[in-house]
Amino acid sequence: MITLEQFIVDRQQELADATGAFSKILRDIGLGAKLISFYLRRASLADVLGELGLTNIQGESVQKLDHLANTLFSQVMRKNPHVAGFASEEEEDIVPTNPNGKYVVLFDPLDGSSNIDVGVPVGTIFSIYQRVSPAGEPVQVADFLQGGCAQVGAGYVLYGTSTLLFYTTGQGVHGFTLEPAAGEFLLTYPQVSMPATSQYYSFNDNQLHEWEPALQRYVADLHARNRTASKPQSLRYVGSLVADFHRNLLKGGLFMYPGTVKKPEGKLRLLYEGYPMAWLTEQAGGKATNGKVALLEVPAEKIHQRTPLFLGPASEIDHLLSFTANVSVETL
Ligand code: AHG
Ligand code: MN
Ligand code: MN
Repeated sequence: MITLEQFIVDRQQELADATGAFSKILRDIGLGAKLISFYLRRASLADVLGELGLTNIQGESVQKLDHLANTLFSQVMRKNPHVAGFASEEEEDIVPTNPNGKYVVLFDPLDGSSNIDVGVPVGTIFSIYQRVSPAGEPVQVADFLQGGCAQVGAGYVLYGTSTLLFYTTGQGVHGFTLEPAAGEFLLTYPQVSMPATSQYYSFNDNQLHEWEPALQRYVADLHARNRTASKPQSLRYVGSLVADFHRNLLKGGLFMYPGTVKKPEGKLRLLYEGYPMAWLTEQAGGKATNGKVALLEVPAEKIHQRTPLFLGPASEIDHLLSFTANVSVETL
């Protein structure tokens, strides 16, 4: 049995920085995940369900567990000397921490908040960059706006039937399962690849009528294919990006959260939902887009910037792009 720590140390030389600093950040992300998992598992017993009575920068009502997860993750990041600062879905601005740190971390401390009180899996999403501002000084916004291709680490934690941690540092996607008896994440999914064919499709069609006509034509095509397919794709959508993505990563599936006429940028956040999930998708052999270009190429302009998000097997994404990007697949 290989623990997360051992796995990271064994592959230390592959990392951009073999000083061990990056490994210690990954280890602490595992610590943050264990702490959140502990409280989540007891939520209805420890009176940490329901709304906190605050509204966050996103204009959303903050769930008690959103706040608790953010507090726990922030504390772990503050205590790591290699983290120079962090950005969180639940923090309006970037949070400078240790000026001598070399990395910045962005995270969605609790993804799928609408599912917390109804026992449906939720998650945490994280994304790591090397800072570009001079060491010894407070981090700047530019450290967080380097763009998806500059990530040096990305991953998620899924608080589901078990607590799973999946991450990439650019050498494939690797998954670990928390063994509560030992308090350790153990390697259970080495070198994950997304199946080439789509078994599932995941989207909320409550605003289908507001999607761009080309995307509506893609959905009609998807339904038409299902009518004749020997194995029709099934709709699976739980409303937690991490849970929907994880199932589609292991079984093959398309996830999409498009923009609408009123909200062309969609709902999901580019920096701490889109980019990390897009990198994981590509590292697992899939493709990620905003409906026009590769998601990782979408420029980062603001910390809480939103983006339309499409993640899935390369063939399904190419087919979708042949509708939405008005380019034939050959030129993609
Ligand atoms: P968060 O709880 O961090 O705000 O994220 C929720 C997101 C994402 O997890 C999910 O895919 C999406 O919201 C679901 O949105 P709808 O309920 O509008 O379908
Ligand atoms: Mn989220
Ligand atoms: Mn969240």
